[in-house]
Amino acid sequence: MAEFTLPANSKVQPGKTVVVAGPEAKRKKTFRIYRWDPDTGANPHEDKYEIDLDKCGPMVLDALIHIKNDVDSTLAFRRSCREGICGSCAMNIDGRNTLACLKPIDDVKGDVKIYPLPHQPVVKDLVPDLSRNYAQLASVKPWLQTQSAPPSRERLQSPEEREKLNGLYECILCFCCTTSCPSYWWNGERYLGPAVLLQAYRFIADSRDEMTGERLDDLEDPFRLYRCHTIMNCTQTCPKGLNPAKAIQEIKKLMVARR
Ligand code: SF4
Ligand code: SF4
Ligand code: FES
Repeated sequence: MAEFTLPANSKVQPGKTVVVAGPEAKRKKTFRIYRWDPDTGANPHEDKYEIDLDKCGPMVLDALIHIKNDVDSTLAFRRSCREGICGSCAMNIDGRNTLACLKPIDDVKGDVKIYPLPHQPVVKDLVPDLSRNYAQLASVKPWLQTQSAPPSRERLQSPEEREKLNGLYECILCFCCTTSCPSYWWNGERYLGPAVLLQAYRFIADSRDEMTGERLDDLEDPFRLYRCHTIMNCTQTCPKGLNPAKAIQEIKKLMVARR
């Protein structure tokens, strides 16, 4: 498969302009959308669609669905839940990584510029190839691991122990954070990035997990963990309001405490 990696802040050539909104439209908005098709081999370009906002719902994802259904069926993007739960509609909107289904169109002044998550290989248009991210996620074994015999009913937690998972379990693995992290842009082959490190900490922090030492051993590496330089882009961009930078700090503190 041909592959194109979109650098952050890249400029692409203008493409076609499609005016859909008729003269009667009271609320017109132009969407500038990154396009790249591996089948043509042509350079990436930016297509413009001027649409009537009264013909679609209020979120950027609604506009994309309107464009795909009614204007240009060749446009490719991912979405599923339409309510900020599945993480599949993550993209770069108005210069910031976020979820298209949670981003109100009215929040964007002027044209709405929509690009795929930066610094990832692009499969087509707004669809990034997240294979590496998923492989990195699998490498931290994001599931409970135990060594003791299973109890007859369930492994219990106190309310205080359960409280420690708040701010971690809500992660929907959209990778908005990881793809906004400069350290990940430059060292993504070896640095795990904030989304995967938050997942790693979610199981380290879980009182029911019995492999904390092994998990920390696995992260004790100059690249897998320590490429985080606390730049904080990750926390600023998370559409679920989580704080992956803090989770990374907590892992680092545990590393120091056990030395
Ligand atoms: S705090 Fe760490 S993980 Fe988050 S953006 Fe900065 S370097 Fe990346
Ligand atoms: S921490 Fe936030 S931005 Fe990062 S993957 Fe999870 S939900 Fe997405
Ligand atoms: S479509 Fe599921 S998070 Fe946006």
